[in-house]
Parts: sequence; structure tokens; C-alpha cells
Amino acid sequence: MIYPITVFGDPVLRKVTTDIDQNYKGFEKLIEDMFDTMYNAEGIGLAAPQIGLTCRVFVVDLSPLGEEEPLLKDFIKAFINPHIIEKSGDKVLMEEGCLSLPGLREDVLRYDTIRMKYLDSNWQVHDEVFTGFTARVLQHEYDHLEGVMFVDYCSPLKKRILKGKLTDISKGQVTTTYRIKVPRA
Ligand code: NI
Repeated sequence: MIYPITVFGDPVLRKVTTDIDQNYKGFEKLIEDMFDTMYNAEGIGLAAPQIGLTCRVFVVDLSPLGEEEPLLKDFIKAFINPHIIEKSGDKVLMEEGCLSLPGLREDVLRYDTIRMKYLDSNWQVHDEVFTGFTARVLQHEYDHLEGVMFVDYCSPLKKRILKGKLTDISKGQVTTTYRIKVPRA
């Protein structure tokens, strides 16, 4: 099932999500639906609040970048109950977009390296270090689980410039190739 994607202005995108356990109803379907919804929108990552849920889950598929970066070729993963336990390395500036902020792209400063504990979709525990582009995407998705969106990192001046666009997005006055759930509809 393909969900409509929540956009800026929806309170669910500002909630801190909660860990789930193996009793979570419809878990396998949830993961499948999240991947389907992400692929339908041509995204490389999708977090549960983007389909209106407050569980601590996100999915990522970096395989489209496999041509430039062979290590990413098979990077298709669900992250359950992820918790970043360390950020390190240099801070790197790079442009980001987000399915919940259609039409916006802004530079975001993020750490180059993170260490994250999480469960995979088979409930196996992982404690891994990620770097570079992977670390960037994981930090972006992780932020969604903490109620944070990339525009939050913009300077006060930039935020003022973006205000009109953000209001448009929250009213659904934006063009997307995927269905969105408009908070002020
Ligand atoms: Ni996003």
C-alpha cells in the first residue's frame, strides 16, 4: 500500500517517535508499505512520521547511487529503533531535499561519521559506524524520528526567505509526483 506523504506543517513530523517491539501489529506490512511509498515517490529514504506514524522506524535504499559508489549498490535497509550513540569527524556541507518538503533543497551541515545502534527487519541487533553520504542520509532520516526537519538548520535569515514556500507546502500549494497529505486541508 502506498501512503500519502505528510508534509511540512503536519504535527506528526514534530513528534519524537517511540521504540517498537516484536509485537508491533502488522510489522512486516509496515516495512513493505514504507518501501513501496518511498519508491513511488522516488525517494532514497523514508521515516515513519512521513506516513503519519510515530514508531521509531525508517527505510533507506541507496542502491541508485551504486554506480558512483559501489559500496552503496546493496544498501537497502530498514532501521528499527535506531539510536545514534556518537557523531564524529568533520562537519560537511551538502545540499539535501526531503519528500516532506517538496521543491526545497538547502545546504545542511552534518557530521561525516556516526555510530548507530539499531535492529534490522529480522530483529537482529547492529552497532555500526557509517560515514560519508550514508551517514548523511541516516542522520536526515534519524532527524525525522526526533521531530526535526532539515529546514530547522537554516539560518534565521534563510528561514525568513523560505517562509512563504513553507506556508505554500503546508497548504498543499505545491506540485509533486506523489500523493501528499495536506495538514491544513
Ligand atoms: Ni526527509
